[in-house]
Amino acid sequence: MNHNNSSSAVDRPESGSRVPLTLAITGGKGGVGKTQVALNLALVLARQGYRTLLLDGDVELANVNVMLGVYPGMTLEHVVLGERTLDEVVLPVTGNLDLLPGASGVPGCLELDSARREDFLAQLRTLEQGYDRVIIDTAAGLSTPALHMVAASHLAALVITPDPTSLTDAFSLVKVLHRKGYRRTPSVIVNMARGATEAQTVYRRFSTAVSRYIGVQLHYLGAIWRDETIAQSISTQRPVAMMDDSDPSCRQFWTLADMLAVRCSQGVAPANGFARYWGRLVRRRHQQRGEQQQSSKAETGTIGSPQEWLASLGEHLRAAQGDPLARYRLITGVLETLGESVDEDAVEALQTGLAAMKWEEAPATVRRAAAEHFRQLARVVAPSEGLRPEEGRALGAGTDAPGQPATEGSGSG
Ligand SMILES: Nc1ncnc2c1ncn2[C@@H]1O[C@H](COP(=O)(O)OP(=O)(O)O)[C@@H](O)[C@H]1O
Ligand SMILES: [Mg+2]
Repeated sequence: MNHNNSSSAVDRPESGSRVPLTLAITGGKGGVGKTQVALNLALVLARQGYRTLLLDGDVELANVNVMLGVYPGMTLEHVVLGERTLDEVVLPVTGNLDLLPGASGVPGCLELDSARREDFLAQLRTLEQGYDRVIIDTAAGLSTPALHMVAASHLAALVITPDPTSLTDAFSLVKVLHRKGYRRTPSVIVNMARGATEAQTVYRRFSTAVSRYIGVQLHYLGAIWRDETIAQSISTQRPVAMMDDSDPSCRQFWTLADMLAVRCSQGVAPANGFARYWGRLVRRRHQQRGEQQQSSKAETGTIGSPQEWLASLGEHLRAAQGDPLARYRLITGVLETLGESVDEDAVEALQTGLAAMKWEEAPATVRRAAAEHFRQLARVVAPSEGLRPEEGRALGAGTDAPGQPATEGSGSG
């Protein structure tokens, strides 16, 4: 059977050219089988005749390389750094399947200067055009790169398992995606089910909760059984999709690929392709940064270097040692300034700054007060990320909602 024909890619809405159909395999947490599903599905698609690229965006141990027993010296990071070209890091796996290792490094291109960035994105565009299907094995959970991988793809498949925590984590993922404006219909793959009845039950419980509490409808893509051969394929480094296609373990992924073909034939929302998505994101990000820099310069006239500024802040803070009000004004002033440009960088700076504080030297009362404050802050900043008790119950997870700091002082890093 050869599906490798002109109808196997998707029309690119903007230019009339074609981009490969892109599917992000995602899920709320690690260990649910994202990598197994991504790799085996990609292998089957390749066997069916689709030119397939597998983007390894996972950063966990049992990643695609390990499962295949290939250990690439070069990853996408080397391309971002300008040390290698994309062609040099793409690894052929089988006749129709190539692997791009280290795809979690794509966001690194945000930091490049414009010439290197455009060069990188052009390489990504050219690479993409050589394929019919791109499968992305995303990192677990709500990390920004994982969310972007989903947003860049035509389709997203959420991997869930009968384990209630996989449901609560996937639920949070759908919630965050929805809040960030994601309006496609996510597909669901139930992995590690012990039979069709359990797969259906798990899917129904999940989709009912998602529909009731988030207002999002899901699509059932299929199920993969809990299977010893799959579990062992890591140590044998022979993914089940490489086995004879009459083998039941392998067969499941053919069925999944057929379900995917059905889903595609029903039409997928247009997307501009992976490279173009990143291109837009990167340019928008840089434009915003440029505007911010311009406006801060305009407001302050000539400003000293950040180092000078920090040194003088330190001096002021030390000088105000016995003056709580002055210290209060300085510290809140710094935070307000940071807060004027709340973006991912500012949040990361805050996180790092908070983690760097010498909490272990602080008295217990101070730590308790800080922990309580962070808990309250979490409820204000991201009220919907944690599950409400009724959502937890609907997912069969009891009342232990995720997204709440579990222990006192957990914000101290
Ligand atoms: N259907 C399955 N049956 C049995 N074991 C599975 C199945 N799917 C995944 N596993 C095993 O579960 C573990 C986690 O799978 P993995 O694909 O690495 O998850 P993730 O990428 O979501 O972290 C691995 O040891 C894997 O072999
Ligand atoms: Mg993985």
